[in-house]
Formats: sequence, C-alpha cells, structure tokens
Amino acid sequence: MALFEWKEDFSVHVGAFDTHHKRLVDLINSLHEAMQKRKSAEVMGGTLKELLAYTRYHFSEEEKLMDTMGYPGLQQHRKDHDWFTGKVAQLVQKLREGALGVGIETMTFLKNWLMDHILETDKRYSGFFNSRSVN
Ligand SMILES: [Fe+2]
Repeated sequence: MALFEWKEDFSVHVGAFDTHHKRLVDLINSLHEAMQKRKSAEVMGGTLKELLAYTRYHFSEEEKLMDTMGYPGLQQHRKDHDWFTGKVAQLVQKLREGALGVGIETMTFLKNWLMDHILETDKRYSGFFNSRSVN
C-alpha cells in the first residue's frame, strides 16, 4: 500500500495546485517504495533530488500567484516553504555525504509536513483565489 494517498479532502480548489500536490505525493511514495526495496543511496538520492526540484517548482508557482493576486498571507507562507525546502536540501546533502539513510522517520516527516501544509496552510488560500476566479 502506498504510504500517502491523495484524497478529495486535500483539494485546495485550485486545479493546477491539486495536480502539483498529487505529483508531490507520488514522489514521496516513490521514495518510500525505494526505501522498502532497499534501493541504493544513489537511487534514493535521485528520487529525493527530484522531490526537491519539484517542490521548489511548485512552491514558486504558488508564491507567484499569491504575489500577482496580492494574497495577504504570502510572507508567512513563503517562510513555511523556505523552511521545508531547506530541510529537504539538507536531506539530499546528508544522503550524498553518506551521513544518513532515508528511513521511516524521514518518510513520516515528509508525509506529515506536506499533509499538514496542504490541509492547514494551503487551504487558507482557496477562498481568496476562488473569489478572484482562480480555481
Ligand atoms: Fe504551499
């Protein structure tokens, strides 16, 4: 069974961002699968780097739209994004140095952070965007 399943409850009611979130969920699941299959640090590192790159892309798309539309929560939201990006970049670095394996704690951290971020922080922008015809 997949570690993380995207459910309708996770919808932020902005189609592009739901699509991005589903991709992030898939990447987290791929990493989890690689962990379970005891794939090499190189394979794990590749997936983690892909997760980092896609996370950066997705966050910058959200922030761009918030900026364009004058979303009042942008600053705090950006801080949350930067914190997580920093954490994932650290994981990539540690894995590269052989200082860390990706274990269940890492997987739980990635899953929980993303889930809480979508459900609490992202969902706050739904009404703002929808009332400005972004959906
Ligand atoms: Fe976000």
